[in-house]
Amino acid sequence: MTDDAPTLPPIRLPEGRALPAGMTLRRPDAEDHASVVAVIPEWWGLPAGTRLTALLPRLFFQHFSDRSFLAEDASGLAAFLIGFHSSAQPEVAYIHFVGVRPDVREAGLARTLYEAFFAEAVAAGRRRVDAITGPSNRRSQSFHRSMGFEATGTAEVDGVLAWLDYDGPDEHRVAFTRRIGPPTP
Ligand SMILES: CC(C)(COP(=O)(O)OP(=O)(O)OC[C@H]1O[C@@H](n2cnc3c(N)ncnc32)[C@H](O)[C@@H]1OP(=O)(O)O)[C@@H](O)C(=O)NCCC(=O)NCCS
Repeated sequence: MTDDAPTLPPIRLPEGRALPAGMTLRRPDAEDHASVVAVIPEWWGLPAGTRLTALLPRLFFQHFSDRSFLAEDASGLAAFLIGFHSSAQPEVAYIHFVGVRPDVREAGLARTLYEAFFAEAVAAGRRRVDAITGPSNRRSQSFHRSMGFEATGTAEVDGVLAWLDYDGPDEHRVAFTRRIGPPTP
């Protein structure tokens, strides 16, 4: 399988943010798809062999690599953020997936990736970042609240505010949104 290799924008970390010693950050490409999908069951605490390619298909690595990040260290893949700037909503940027390897969690790595994504989005004129998660993913909900996101929804599902049937029957979702850039007058 071949993919055209696009020229991807360089990554600049926001002021005051740094990666752990020995870790590097780059844009993912289509060849990274398999290795990212392979770590998801373990990183998400799902049963071994769970296949999540439907949630993160190769197209994200082909068409959204310019806004996404992949962190690596001596142990291999350390973290990834898959996001994009909305095509239909010019004020919105969207974070689709973020994952940090368990042994490097709670050291500010996801915050660094999010802040780098926010900075690029602001520079591109975006004013809002959206993300969604499942009602049962309390870790993701806590993380997004810590990152300044607010949850929206229409009903309480498993004790949290969520949108009923957001992604189809019984596929309820918590929607998070956060303003970025200068305050609107
Ligand atoms: C959620 C996840 C990405 C956080 O990564 P991380 O590198 O450990 O997060 P950080 O250390 O950058 O934490 C950023 C903020 O979120 C908070 N946070 C992170 N994990 C948290 C948790 N499990 N519970 C509560 N708060 C948490 C931190 O306290 C921190 O807040 P602060 O900066 O105000 O102190 C990581 O736990 C993970 O990969 N989980 C599995 C995959 C997942 O659920 N992804 C999200 C849905 S797509």
